[in-house]
Amino acid sequence: MDEQPPAVDLSRASVARVYDHLLGGKEHLDVDRRAADAMRNVVPEVGEIAKDNRSFLRRGVSYLVREAGIRQIVDIGSGLPGGGNVSEVAHAIDPDVHVVYVDNDAVVLAHARALLATNERTAVVTADLRRPDSLFEEVSALEIFDPDAPFAVLLSGVVHHLSDDDDPDAIVAAIRRRLSPGSHLLLSHFLYDDDSRAYALERAFLHGGLGSGRFRTWKELHGYFTGLELVPPGLVYANDWRPDRTTPAGSPVRTLHVGGIGRKP
Ligand SMILES: C[S@@+](CC[C@H](N)C(=O)[O-])C[C@H]1O[C@@H](n2cnc3c(N)ncnc32)[C@H](O)[C@@H]1O
Repeated sequence: MDEQPPAVDLSRASVARVYDHLLGGKEHLDVDRRAADAMRNVVPEVGEIAKDNRSFLRRGVSYLVREAGIRQIVDIGSGLPGGGNVSEVAHAIDPDVHVVYVDNDAVVLAHARALLATNERTAVVTADLRRPDSLFEEVSALEIFDPDAPFAVLLSGVVHHLSDDDDPDAIVAAIRRRLSPGSHLLLSHFLYDDDSRAYALERAFLHGGLGSGRFRTWKELHGYFTGLELVPPGLVYANDWRPDRTTPAGSPVRTLHVGGIGRKP
């Protein structure tokens, strides 16, 4: 099993940097912009999916801390730090929430260590979602994390970067098994169902330079919450999950992206 930090290959587009570019950030290279252009060629508003996802993540974390009483968060596939990071959202409500950021991208980790792991309530872990058991062993070894107390796992915009060969059902099931009673799973994901643009956009993600980005059906996505109680309104278009006054209204990509939170009984 390879536990070394992953090498940085700057000749290939990275999920984290393409996402940063779509969000209007500065941490991206030509190769990332070309991959994003391939997506824009088929759905010019693709960047709105990234913005809608950040908005869902912020509302979801607010719910978890303010209403569900969560005091520990494991953010898997945390991405490059930008505005409204998970620990910022959580700590604005309760500064004592413990946040563990996990990613498998070396650039993400370097930025996260510099910007986010700045106090004793946050930590950054190098691990791969495709090895959920070793990921959880690393997280559980942290002083700031108690696996027996309720916690939230965030899988925001990351499971769609697992291929079918990775067996995402089994990976998310392994995560669900780790959830202690009262823990929550937040998940957002591309949707392949109600919108004819999904097929073309998936081709652009898979073959336009990035190499990952699966759009999955409602049935597949509901499967990720097996055995959990879905928090109302359930698994829905991400912008329909408890929208507030900052939720993008009339998003042109609303039907391409879903979000939900489940609770382990
Ligand atoms: C689209 S970004 C989402 C960032 C953030 N979670 C959000 O919702 O704004 C996906 C992140 O998942 C990370 N990622 C992709 N595959 C991963 C894997 N197998 N294990 C851990 N992280 C992964 C990427 O490096 C990237 O930072």
